[in-house]
Amino acid sequence: MATLTLRDIRKSYPGAAAETIKGVSLDVADREFVVFVGPSGCGKSTLLRMIAGLEDISGGELAIDGVRMNETGPAGRGLAMVFQSYALYPHMTVRQNMEFALKLAKLPVVERRAKVEEAARILQLTDYLDRTPRQLSGGQRQRVAIGRAIVRSPKVFLFDEPLSNLDAALRGQMRLELARLHNELAATMIYVTHDQIEAMTLADKIVVLRAGRVEQLGSPLELYRDPANIFVAGFIGAPKMNLHPGRVLDTRPDGVRIALDSGPVLDVAVAGDRLAPGAAITFGARPEDITVAGTAGPDRLSGRVVVVEHLGGQTLVHLETDSGESWLVQTDGSSTIAIGDTVHLGFDGTVSHVFDGQGQAVPRLHRHDPSAEAARIRAVS
Ligand SMILES: Nc1ncnc2c1ncn2[C@@H]1O[C@H](COP(=O)(O)OP(=O)(O)O)[C@@H](O)[C@H]1O
Ligand SMILES: [Mg+2]
Repeated sequence: MATLTLRDIRKSYPGAAAETIKGVSLDVADREFVVFVGPSGCGKSTLLRMIAGLEDISGGELAIDGVRMNETGPAGRGLAMVFQSYALYPHMTVRQNMEFALKLAKLPVVERRAKVEEAARILQLTDYLDRTPRQLSGGQRQRVAIGRAIVRSPKVFLFDEPLSNLDAALRGQMRLELARLHNELAATMIYVTHDQIEAMTLADKIVVLRAGRVEQLGSPLELYRDPANIFVAGFIGAPKMNLHPGRVLDTRPDGVRIALDSGPVLDVAVAGDRLAPGAAITFGARPEDITVAGTAGPDRLSGRVVVVEHLGGQTLVHLETDSGESWLVQTDGSSTIAIGDTVHLGFDGTVSHVFDGQGQAVPRLHRHDPSAEAARIRAVS
């Protein structure tokens, strides 16, 4: 068992004007894979280092398996951390690197060997145990760093951007290996990244951080489907959600009628009780939720195509409106749309988003069909 509880955790660095972590509360369940995601500098590493015991906690409480840990040193917390810079000992073999901590802990040779060999098997490093780091690829070195964590049988694994130093193809491959590893070890894991695709593909639960605060917390699908605010809407999902200004014309029980600044008048199925006619809003539509229509119309957006990206299975069409807004539409792979074409876009009011003047999501009235959502997520990752 390994659960973690964070209650109103705060961090002030001496001399810093503002708190770096401004009250984070979170429950991590046993065997859960939790990902902290957010832009560079938002406090992800600070929060992880506070959990690890490498950084003092200025306020709030951290508990592991229900026991307060604020005053316990790193060694007493039973956690193991894997960093972006894997910092292997260059003159030691893979085996020696992996067993180093066990040797320090004075574990008998037989047990040490068994643990290293089991970790090597899990990480597919068995044939590399007698090599030095210099004789390994970047991905293999990062696996050795993970192996050093595995041999210690920690209660919780902590990862700080472990894949950031790898090239794109290797990152994709290591991502799958981490998912497999989580499954095989059945361990609790907390993983920090600025890459929302890593967050979407690995997490049971995503914690979106911004400037030391939790913007939203939920499963990848919840965040994708129902982003709580403009920040999360723009951060989760690739290609990004289209977000453009408009205003409220009218509110009714079955939704809200809005006029986009770029022209179209749309009925969106969101709860309008918080919105007054005339209120400024931001409209949001994911590129795959927009259709290319044959003709112009009062509920259609017309624009000129400026870039077409043929990805094979799908085509990304970038267009610009007369008013100067940029929109992105995802359409099928065989699309014949070309640069310079004028296209007309149609919107689905049941899957579109509306954000109020404070950037907070206006609750949607319809739930998505889960299988359609799963297909959408596959398209994203
Ligand atoms: N030891 C430190 N002393 C003072 N400020 C720090 C220290 N470490 C990090 N910070 C500041 O805290 C903020 C969050 O940093 P960090 O947790 O590393 O962000 P992230 O990992 O999300 O990129 C940054 O503004 C950074 O400059
Ligand atoms: Mg960091």
